[in-house]
Amino acid sequence: MRKIEVELGVVTRANGSALVKFGDTVALAAVYGPAELHPAHLREYQTGILRCRYSLAPFSVEERKVPGFDRRSVELSKVIRVAIEPAIFLEEFPKAVVDVFVEILQADGSTRVTAINATNLALISAGIPMRDFVVACSVGKIDNCLVVDLNGIEDNFSQADINFAFMPNRNKITLFQGDGQLTKNEIKELISLAKKSCEKIYEVEKGVLSGKYSRQIS
Ligand code: CDP
Repeated sequence: MRKIEVELGVVTRANGSALVKFGDTVALAAVYGPAELHPAHLREYQTGILRCRYSLAPFSVEERKVPGFDRRSVELSKVIRVAIEPAIFLEEFPKAVVDVFVEILQADGSTRVTAINATNLALISAGIPMRDFVVACSVGKIDNCLVVDLNGIEDNFSQADINFAFMPNRNKITLFQGDGQLTKNEIKELISLAKKSCEKIYEVEKGVLSGKYSRQIS
């Protein structure tokens, strides 16, 4: 795995925020809410809703990306929401919305899983009630070897890659999205590798959170 770096509270106007680096991939997540949802016809009367917006900055990739919300951003925004939603007690704030904005400041592979880690930490920092952490990583196959945490080149040359998100205390997978050719045994092995990597990421993230908030209490 690449070096993981985490910083909390970088966006002071947000209710919670987190910057997560997996090697050269840098994701910034900012959380706003829960707040009353407008327009009113979008409200759910039994539950709150989570809205996620993933954006790849034009300068984040080698070949400048056209600014704006494209099809890939729509897909990845949904992927982040689906991975995170099971962990939030959304039913505790009916008619409300929690907004998450994720900006990829630098992309070198695995941006969606880096974004999921940043979103989870930003939600926790915002005090959103949660059942568990959601920790995420990518796994895959290159030159017939099973690997974890693919960077941009590895992603381009991989035979298969899987984006994995996991609630470590509940032992529940919330995202399993991938492509390529894998045998049943390889998939089993990759799930085991992904869980082990997520446990490591979880320890790093827990350490940063307890470091920040225990300092504030004392
Ligand atoms: O980033 P992630 O692996 O979640 O999604 P992807 O669509 O499989 O993209 C893989 C990688 O391709 C990204 O992490 C970027 O490094 C790169 N990419 C790029 O260079 N230009 C784009 N417009 C989109 C992605």
